[in-house]
Amino acid sequence: MRLQGKVAVITGAGSGMGRAMANLFAAEGAKIVAAEWNETTLAEVVAEVKAAGGEIAGVQGNVADQGDCERIIDDAVAQFGKVDVLCNNAGVMDLNAGAAEMDNAIWERCLGINLTGPMYLTRKAIPVMKAAGGGSIINTASVAGVGGGAAGCAYTVSKHGIIGLTKNTAFRYCQEGIRCNAIVAGAVETNIMQSVDPTKMDPTGIARSQTWYAAIPGQLKATDIANLALFFASDESKMVNGACVPADAGWTSA
Ligand SMILES: NC(=O)c1ccc[n+]([C@@H]2O[C@H](COP(=O)([O-])OP(=O)(O)OC[C@H]3O[C@@H](n4cnc5c(N)ncnc54)[C@H](O)[C@@H]3O)[C@@H](O)[C@H]2O)c1
Repeated sequence: MRLQGKVAVITGAGSGMGRAMANLFAAEGAKIVAAEWNETTLAEVVAEVKAAGGEIAGVQGNVADQGDCERIIDDAVAQFGKVDVLCNNAGVMDLNAGAAEMDNAIWERCLGINLTGPMYLTRKAIPVMKAAGGGSIINTASVAGVGGGAAGCAYTVSKHGIIGLTKNTAFRYCQEGIRCNAIVAGAVETNIMQSVDPTKMDPTGIARSQTWYAAIPGQLKATDIANLALFFASDESKMVNGACVPADAGWTSA
């Protein structure tokens, strides 16, 4: 039981990596606060974790909304008394458009969910963690956070931004026992492409990314990412802070 007694808030817990984290963390003894804007998948993950004997509370909310982010952390404290682990994991894709083709609504949606939301949640969680003597924040970044070829401009900027949020948070709060690390995820089998309208993808942007996609060494499973998140969440990684660790089967090592 690597997370016995810990309380973990996981955003985007209804699908993909977040759902894998919720199941794995609960199996390792954590009390889970599953945050998700999709009511159906939220109910599913809550039922799944409970059926396996885990402890979980679901909170419906949109991580792009400041009030919802504050309510997610408040609910976690009300339900379980503290927040030891925050997984900023919810995210959406963009349409693979470059800056010259950028649609304002796509830019704002992608940055709001993938970057501003994690800042809102981090801002609200840090005083709670400080009061308890520390905590671990885990940001789901991407190979798009360390290179320019994996996605469109909005997604790429959002994931570069979360790398900055990770490093600044790690540096700024290390003396208060708070750690912040990022997972630089490669190609993972999830439902992420359902977050955008496939008929609106930028064909030139997609064609341009093919050289990058051709170098993908292999598809990962959501559980592969959850295993790294578990390490960051547990005390085994207590000396690891500000790390942005690739979980990409070697994609970015080329
Ligand atoms: N799948 C990949 O290949 C890949 C690669 C690198 C990084 N990522 C990142 O991994 C993270 C998890 O995505 P996934 O691949 O598991 O996709 P997914 O679509 O399967 O899961 C994402 C979950 O986040 C939820 N969500 C989206 N926007 C939300 C919002 N505003 N408020 C609350 N919940 C919201 C979705 O409903 C969904 O349940 C994302 O940050 C994504 O950018 C994915």
